[in-house]
Amino acid sequence: MSGVTKKQSTTKNTFKLAVFSSKKWVSSSFNEVNDRYNFEISYFEPQLNNKTAPLTKGFDAVCIFVNDNVDSEVIDELKANGVKLIALRCAGFNNVDIARAKEVGIGVVRVPAYSPYAVAEHTLGLILALNRKLHRAYSRVRDGNFALDGLLGFDIHNKTIGIIGTGKIGEIFINLLQGFECRILAYDKFPNKELEAKGIKYVDLQTIYSQCDIISLHCPLTYETYHLINDYAIRSMKENVMIVNTSRGKLIDTSAVIEGLKTGKVGYLGLDVYEEEEALFFEDFTEKVIQDDQFVRLQTFPNVLITSHQAFFTKEAVHNISETTFTNIKAYLKTGESENLVLPVKTE
Ligand code: NAI
Repeated sequence: MSGVTKKQSTTKNTFKLAVFSSKKWVSSSFNEVNDRYNFEISYFEPQLNNKTAPLTKGFDAVCIFVNDNVDSEVIDELKANGVKLIALRCAGFNNVDIARAKEVGIGVVRVPAYSPYAVAEHTLGLILALNRKLHRAYSRVRDGNFALDGLLGFDIHNKTIGIIGTGKIGEIFINLLQGFECRILAYDKFPNKELEAKGIKYVDLQTIYSQCDIISLHCPLTYETYHLINDYAIRSMKENVMIVNTSRGKLIDTSAVIEGLKTGKVGYLGLDVYEEEEALFFEDFTEKVIQDDQFVRLQTFPNVLITSHQAFFTKEAVHNISETTFTNIKAYLKTGESENLVLPVKTE
């Protein structure tokens, strides 16, 4: 099959690992770490889903990323193929049916924190670029257009910024924002005591929506947060609000945000994740026609800035992802335990 490369270990009876959604940066980082682990690794470029699941026969573990789709059907096939572990090389696990994996006895491990700084810093980058229209200024100046019309920004100083989700990334992002001397409002199902002690005010979602000039999403995708930013939420926001999402695409109802942009209610939109990104992100479409009309519509707005799920992508984060993934796999396959096991979330 095209798109498959194999890194053979010299040691016999070692663990066999199938890495899906593989890219050059993944295999080079994994191969470097594997010098110390000696796993037998096969790299597959395609995503793991119901079409590619047959490729997993004979592997001890599969390693996947944010856009692989490991639903119950795929899990049953993994089980039949002898796979014992699903190793996520990311923090979010919304793309794996965790309950089904537990039922059939397949472990799921993840990398809970590889560089929360990377994501928080990228979020800040999106906000600054959108506000001061750096994405537009860059092309203008390269074209010899030095006019300032249309590039007017605002001071972040004294503005109200709302953070939804104050876990590792949200907390670091709040710390970064302190330097701007802005007003910060936070919302989380489980408020962070350290942030409260530092004077960060927790409010309800309605207060975030009605008072914030900038709203940044840092909560996971769950059944509760799916389409958190919907038509109703957008209608309760301030005119010209800036919405930034570096968390998971499905937190935002794309149709609703497009309507908000058309009416001017949403003044700025910064996305590192997109609702239907599985079909687009991490691939090169320069020679192809993009079939996703909503995505193409988003790209037509001058006040929308999209990056393709790159917030995590720093040298430090990639190194940490590889190290933790290999540690997780070795620990689980040897002992059935790992400090980074993912357990089904109780919904009651
Ligand atoms: P975390 O687990 O440390 O923090 C998540 C926070 O969200 C927790 O404080 C939790 O209480 C809160 N939360 C859970 N349910 C909520 C709800 N219904 N409403 C409001 N808050 C809720 O996770 P971390 O490391 O801060 O990551 C946040 C998200 O960032 C991840 O879930 C992932 O989706 C995304 N992410 C994106 C990356 C990128 O490259 N764009 C890279 C890494 C993570």
